[in-house]
Amino acid sequence: MAGTCAHAEFFRAQPAWALALAGVGLLGLAAGVEGLREAIRGLEVGVLVNNAGVSYPYARYFHEVDEELMRTLIRVNVEGVTRVTHAVLPGMVERKRGAIVNIGSGSSSVMPSDPLYSVYAATKAYVDQFSRCLYVEYKSKGIDVQCQVPLYVATKMASIRKSSFFVPSADTYARAAIRHIGYEPKCTPYWPHSVMWFLISILPESLIDSIRLGMCIKIRKKGQAKDAKKKEQ
Ligand SMILES: NC(=O)c1ccc[n+]([C@@H]2O[C@H](COP(=O)([O-])OP(=O)(O)OC[C@H]3O[C@@H](n4cnc5c(N)ncnc54)[C@H](OP(=O)(O)O)[C@@H]3O)[C@@H](O)[C@H]2O)c1
Repeated sequence: MAGTCAHAEFFRAQPAWALALAGVGLLGLAAGVEGLREAIRGLEVGVLVNNAGVSYPYARYFHEVDEELMRTLIRVNVEGVTRVTHAVLPGMVERKRGAIVNIGSGSSSVMPSDPLYSVYAATKAYVDQFSRCLYVEYKSKGIDVQCQVPLYVATKMASIRKSSFFVPSADTYARAAIRHIGYEPKCTPYWPHSVMWFLISILPESLIDSIRLGMCIKIRKKGQAKDAKKKEQ
C-alpha cells in the first residue's frame, strides 16, 4: 500500500499516464488500478478507451503457448480492461453520463475462428461479451458502452508496416474510430472492414476456417524462421 500512495501522487500530476499504465501491469495491476482510482478522484472522465492489448509474437499452436505469454494475454486483455472499467465507471454513474470504448477484435467477433491465435481470440471474445453486457446494464444510466472490432490495422502488433485500402494506418483507423463513439454497441468503424465483415458473414464458416488456418500456418513458419535466424546470430 505504501507504493500505492507514491503512485497516487504521480498519477494526480499525470492522469493520462494513470489511464495508460494501470490496466497493463507496468506497476502491478492492483497498485496501478488503485493509483488510477486516486488520480481520477475529482476529475470528470467522460470517455474511457480500453485500447491496450497484446497478441502473440507470431502464430502458434496452443500447446506451444508458454505460461508467460498466456498469463500476459489474460492479464492485459481481460483483467486490465475489466479492472480499469471498474475503476472509472462509478464516476460516470454518479454523473449519469460517459462513454466506454473497448477495443475487441475481428478475430473473435467477425471471424468464426482464429486458429493459432486461440488465447488472443478468446480474450477478445471476453471483451466483446463484457462490453455487450455493460451496454445493456448502463444504457438507461446515460453511459454508452461500445465494443469496436477492427480487422487488420498496420501496427506493431499486426507486424504490418505498410497500410493499404483494407489495412488502414493507426491514424486512419483512429479517425474512423472516434467518429463511431456513441452509436452501435458493436461496430467496426473503418468502412472497408465492414465490407470484409459482410463478405465473411456470407461465406461458409468452414471455408473461412480453412483459409485462416492456411494463413496462420504460414505466419508461424515465417516467425519460426526469424527466431531461428536470430539464434544463429
Ligand atoms: N493491429 C491490428 O491488426 C488489430 C486488430 C484487431 C484488434 N486490435 C486491437 O487494437 C488494440 C491496439 O493494438 P495495436 O494494433 O495498436 O497494437 P500495438 O501497436 O502493439 O499497441 C498496443 C498498445 O497496448 C499497449 N500495451 C500492451 N501491453 C502493454 C504492457 N504490458 N504495458 C504497457 N503497455 C502495453 C502498448 O503500449 P506501448 O506502445 O508502450 O508498448 C500500445 O499502446 C489492441 O487491443 C489490439 O488487440 C488490433
